[in-house]
Amino acid sequence: MGTRQIIVVGGSHGIGAGIVRRCLEMGAEVTAFSRTPGETAGLTGVRHHTVDVVNGEIDPSVLPDVIDGLVYCPGTINLGPLRAVKEAQLKEDFDVNVLGAVRTLQASLQGLKRSGNASVVMFSTIAAATGLPMHTCVAAAKGAIEALTRTWAAELSPKVRVNAIAPALTDTPLAEKFLDSDEKRGAMAAKYPLARIGAVDDIAAAAAYLLSTESSWVTGQVLGVDGGMSSIRK
Ligand SMILES: NC(=O)c1ccc[n+]([C@@H]2O[C@H](COP(=O)([O-])OP(=O)(O)OC[C@H]3O[C@@H](n4cnc5c(N)ncnc54)[C@H](OP(=O)(O)O)[C@@H]3O)[C@@H](O)[C@H]2O)c1
Repeated sequence: MGTRQIIVVGGSHGIGAGIVRRCLEMGAEVTAFSRTPGETAGLTGVRHHTVDVVNGEIDPSVLPDVIDGLVYCPGTINLGPLRAVKEAQLKEDFDVNVLGAVRTLQASLQGLKRSGNASVVMFSTIAAATGLPMHTCVAAAKGAIEALTRTWAAELSPKVRVNAIAPALTDTPLAEKFLDSDEKRGAMAAKYPLARIGAVDDIAAAAAYLLSTESSWVTGQVLGVDGGMSSIRK
């Protein structure tokens, strides 16, 4: 068996960068796509390609022939009350979270099928299964991702597994505006049964499990990695 080949879209920063590092630790080679090279492009075992998955296309000729894992990380946290939601914002969130994921999976499909043992990891949010105020745009987009996770898991089984991770607030560039003072960090941490916000590695560890053969009987699932927020009342 050759070296496992993993595609990470959005591997330059945040959770995706953590996943790239985990994949390298597992001995895999990574083909990474993002708009900027970021933290991981220069690492041994990573081939980085610049692309905007909303306005551009992944060039199929740079993909490995056999793809053992695919992770799609681009996402949004645009919050606001229903009365103020603009159609343009809804569409933009749908483009980044959903259409980019559909295009990426389409471009990778043949390579994933060639593996015979491939795993796809999508990203949802706690706000898809748990109703939270102010989350119209993100809930709409990530609700679609959760439904697509099950649809694709059905359509691509048994050769390709498809799962999603639903994080709660995690310390990344995307979440910076909610965590830019000690007061905000403390207030956010206090909301969680496990008394802290998420770290990149909490989520990357879950992705590593879903990418590995340890999860070879798991498909069509949405895994909450959320400090207990989605299922526990204190
Ligand atoms: N952080 C949280 O609190 C949280 C909570 C719930 C769910 N999530 C979900 O978890 C996932 C990862 O979140 P994160 O916090 O790690 O996000 P992040 O810090 O914004 O990182 C996103 C990654 O995607 C890339 N990217 C964004 N737009 C892109 C585009 N149009 N084309 C190509 N690459 C693009 C970014 O790189 P470039 O900028 O270089 O392109 C970056 O590498 C997202 O789907 C998010 O919705 C996060």
